[in-house]
Amino acid sequence: MSKRRVIASAPGKVILVGEHFVVRGEPAIAAAITLRARAIVSTRNDNDIIISSEDLGIKNVINKEPISDELRPLAHVVNKLVRLSGYTGGLEVKIKSEIPPASGMGSSAAVSVACVAALNELLDVGLGLNDICKIAYEAEVIVHKKPSGIDNTISTYGGVIMFSKRSGFKRIPFDSSSFKLILADSGIPRNTGVMVSNVLSLYERYPEILQPIYRSAGILANEFARALERGDIVALGELMNINHGLLSAIGVSNKKLEELVYIARTSGAKGAKITGAGGGGFIVAIADVDSYEQVVNSLKSISNRVIVADISKEGVLIED
Ligand code: MEV
Repeated sequence: MSKRRVIASAPGKVILVGEHFVVRGEPAIAAAITLRARAIVSTRNDNDIIISSEDLGIKNVINKEPISDELRPLAHVVNKLVRLSGYTGGLEVKIKSEIPPASGMGSSAAVSVACVAALNELLDVGLGLNDICKIAYEAEVIVHKKPSGIDNTISTYGGVIMFSKRSGFKRIPFDSSSFKLILADSGIPRNTGVMVSNVLSLYERYPEILQPIYRSAGILANEFARALERGDIVALGELMNINHGLLSAIGVSNKKLEELVYIARTSGAKGAKITGAGGGGFIVAIADVDSYEQVVNSLKSISNRVIVADISKEGVLIED
C-alpha cells in the first residue's frame, strides 16, 4: 500500500420535481448540487479504527467501543472495505460536510459515497463506481430502511437523474448556465415517514381525484427533463410552480412553506416549490444567474438558512 492519506468528496442533492408522486410509480428528477461531503482517510500505526464526524461532534473507535447509532452506517462501510481489502492495520476516517444534515439534501448518502471512495483508493480495493454506489446504498438502508437509491446514485455519478420505480435511473442532459438554485429552510423539522403515509392515506380516500394529479406530475417531470436539456429557465420555473401546486393539493405544504415560495417568486425567482417531503424542510427556487441575489436577500428576511447552489456535473471525486 503506497498512499497513507486520501481525501474523497461527493455531492448532496436536491429533488427538482416529482417527490411524493415517485412513491406511487411516477418519475422524479434530482440534481447533484455544489455542496459536498468529504471523507479524509489515513492509515494508523496502531490497530485502532477511528471514525469521527466534525458536524455531528462524534468520535468512535469502532473496533473497540460500542458504535453510536449515528455512525452505524459509516461503520458498516468501513468494516466492509477493510474486509474486501484484507487490510489488518489501523485507520482514521474523518468526515466533514457542507451539506446540512437531516435537510433532505442527501447528506448521509454523500458521506457514505465519499467514505467508500476514499477507502477504496487508500486500501487499493479496486472498486468501480457501480460498486461504490451499491455499498453506499447498503449504508442508506441502515439510515432510511427502504430508500429509493436516488441519493447514493446521484451522489456517485453527479449531474441530473430521473428516477421511477418502473424504469429505474436515467441520466438527464442539462444546461444550467443561465440559472442558480436557491434553497431556503422553513426552520420546521420535517418527518418524511409521516408525510409519505399522510399522502398515501389521502390517495386511498380519494383515488379518482388524486390519480389525475399523479399522472399530471409524471407528465410534468418528463416536460421538465426536456426543459433542462434546453436550459429553458422560464419553462423550468413554470413547471416548478405547477409542481408546487400539485404538492399543495396533496397536503404537504403549510403557511411557512407558502410564504417562502411566494417571497421567492415575488422577488424575481422564475419558480419556487417545496423540495422533498414537505411539512417543513426546504423550498427550492430557480433564478436568473444575473439577478438571483435579490431572491436570496428576500428569502433571508424570513429564513435563517438560505443556500445558493449550482447543479454539480461532478459526482464522487478523489481530491488528493
Ligand atoms: C423525500 O425526500 C422524497 C419523497 O418522495 C419520499 C421518497 O421518495 O421516498 C417524499
